[in-house]
Amino acid sequence: MERTFIALKPDTLQRGLVGDIINRFEKKGFQLLGLKLVQPPRELVEKHYEEHLGRPFYEGLVNYMTSGPIVASVWQGKNIISSSRSLLGATDPSKAAPGTIRGDLATQVGRNLVHASDSPVNAEREISLWFAAKEIQNWSRSLEPWINEEN
Ligand code: GTP
Ligand code: MG
Repeated sequence: MERTFIALKPDTLQRGLVGDIINRFEKKGFQLLGLKLVQPPRELVEKHYEEHLGRPFYEGLVNYMTSGPIVASVWQGKNIISSSRSLLGATDPSKAAPGTIRGDLATQVGRNLVHASDSPVNAEREISLWFAAKEIQNWSRSLEPWINEEN
């Protein structure tokens, strides 16, 4: 089963939307494996977004991501990497479809509430960047057969 890294950015906490967003992932049928509140040091955010180094929005992005605590989380599910990015909607909330998190709850690209890994390689890279192995619980879910048919 695929895993991904989801971060609720500082605006999610400031706006009191943590429960709402976690609820959407749970209701979708994704399984929570790790969860913590982190005030990330600048170096951690710089590593996390290293692919964007040099872009015009990079400095603002790092400032935004270090402006307050982040909810860091690891989730598991079928096809979760692309599926969670569909739940989030387009990067720019003004272009995100209604029904998506960014489409419903945000208006501006620099305040788009939530991050989701964009590939299997980045998911594993980000999980190991933000979490120690012992902080991730590989628990078995009794509801599993009602969410995912056995292969
Ligand atoms: P993440 O899940 O946060 O990685 O977003 P994404 O994968 O949908 O987009 P991308 O990785 O291209 O950009 C990372 C983050 O940089 C975005 O989520 C935005 O917060 C920010 N960002 C991207 N493009 C712009 C932009 O043009 N202007 C501003 N101000 N911020 C941007
Ligand atoms: Mg990205």
